[in-house]
Amino acid sequence: MGNVKLIKKYDNQVKMYERHRRNKMLADWRNKLIKHASGRVLEVGIGVGANFPYYDREQVEITGVDFSPNMIKSAKEAASVYQVKANFIEADVEDLIFEENSFDSIVSTLSLCSYPNPITALNQFNRWCRKDGIVLLMEHGLSTNRLLSVTQKIIDPLYSKISGCHCDRDLSMVLEQSNLQVLHIERYRSDIFYLIRAKPSKDSYV
Ligand SMILES: C[S@@+](CC[C@H](N)C(=O)[O-])C[C@H]1O[C@@H](n2cnc3c(N)ncnc32)[C@H](O)[C@@H]1O
Repeated sequence: MGNVKLIKKYDNQVKMYERHRRNKMLADWRNKLIKHASGRVLEVGIGVGANFPYYDREQVEITGVDFSPNMIKSAKEAASVYQVKANFIEADVEDLIFEENSFDSIVSTLSLCSYPNPITALNQFNRWCRKDGIVLLMEHGLSTNRLLSVTQKIIDPLYSKISGCHCDRDLSMVLEQSNLQVLHIERYRSDIFYLIRAKPSKDSYV
């Protein structure tokens, strides 16, 4: 799917993501993950700013990136409601250019599934994160339950066409093939959802 089509798709999903803000299951996971963020934070695929309520607003300064103008607009409003210090960049994650070691924390929630090259994105996080920093991920992927994973593979072509995101990515393999070092991992709902804390490995820049 071309970028213009994909951006339009996400532009049209803003209201749905605003409603998801109140999703209890996601809220619990966001809370668990985001409390580990501090300092200069890069949040990629920021959407409507659903993580803002969970940041320690005294401790963070957020750079939020999204390629959807409508998502950025909603995230700006959320930043003002939750009083987090944030600036925004409307760009494709693949076009971002930052110096190495630019951020103390890098956050991605429910976004890796939309990138054409998730391993490349993680390796960019690896470069942009300070070596004593942290990469925080809340993502979804292929279940370890055979029946579910077969279903995910069957529905993915239609699912990704409708939503813009893939439901059949093998997240364990993606992580293994990236340069990040996983520090902590929790899996939920038949291992479909992952909460991950990782650190960069500086000897493996790409
Ligand atoms: C499924 S939503 C998740 C939003 C938010 N992170 C959350 O946890 O609710 C994915 C977000 O990533 C953005 N996105 C997808 N692909 C992108 C890309 N290549 N570059 C920048 N943003 C992207 C979409 O516009 C959307 O806002």
